[in-house]
Amino acid sequence: MKKTLIAPSVLAADFANLQRDIEMINHSEADWFHIDIMDGVFVPNISFGMPVLEAISKHAKKTIDVHLMIIDPDRYIKTFAQLGSTNLTVHYEACTHLHRTLQAIKAEGMKAGVALNPHTPVSLLEDIINDIDLVCLMSVNPGFGGQSFIEKTYKKVKELKEIITRNNASTLIEIDGGVTNRNAKQLAEAGADVLVAGNFVFKAENPTQTISDLKKLLNN
Ligand code: DX5
Ligand code: ZN
Repeated sequence: MKKTLIAPSVLAADFANLQRDIEMINHSEADWFHIDIMDGVFVPNISFGMPVLEAISKHAKKTIDVHLMIIDPDRYIKTFAQLGSTNLTVHYEACTHLHRTLQAIKAEGMKAGVALNPHTPVSLLEDIINDIDLVCLMSVNPGFGGQSFIEKTYKKVKELKEIITRNNASTLIEIDGGVTNRNAKQLAEAGADVLVAGNFVFKAENPTQTISDLKKLLNN
């Protein structure tokens, strides 16, 4: 059985104790760092930008999974590569020439991801699936942590898995938004490979234990 990965979302960390929270992830059973970059235009919120990512990169010892919720992401591909991003995910809804953008991300040595808003059907990726390393299915409307999970996501995961299998692609499916121990197992069973978890991890009394419990729940 394949292992499901956990990517804690740093957006929910304590920014006054960022190094402490990064070390917590380093020493936990988490697999990736999920980093949300918001521009206040594509989404109605501003998170943080390059200097903060640079600081995170200095301490993070695991895959850095960057989720760009910004318009015109092509302008910053090189910079995100230089700042240590392993994966760079752009929004389908923000890219006019998605194929070109994905090639540009790969040319900088990163894995290329595409995120879909809850209203965007997975079928739109059929013709480009072999060029995508990671599809991030938004299970909330992007912009804020701590929202509730949209149930329709299970169906989208299954449909996307079918597209990936049909095209012999090796694309990973990531779920982002409202992930908890109540939906994690069902998401993995539907075909999810990576689960992002922000508030569920960082607002827990013991984040390290919460990550470990989630891993156990998923991979036993
Ligand atoms: C939402 C972000 C998510 C968010 C997840 O726009 O893309 O990554 O941080 O946070 P939770 O798990 O709290 O919904
Ligand atoms: Zn995200």
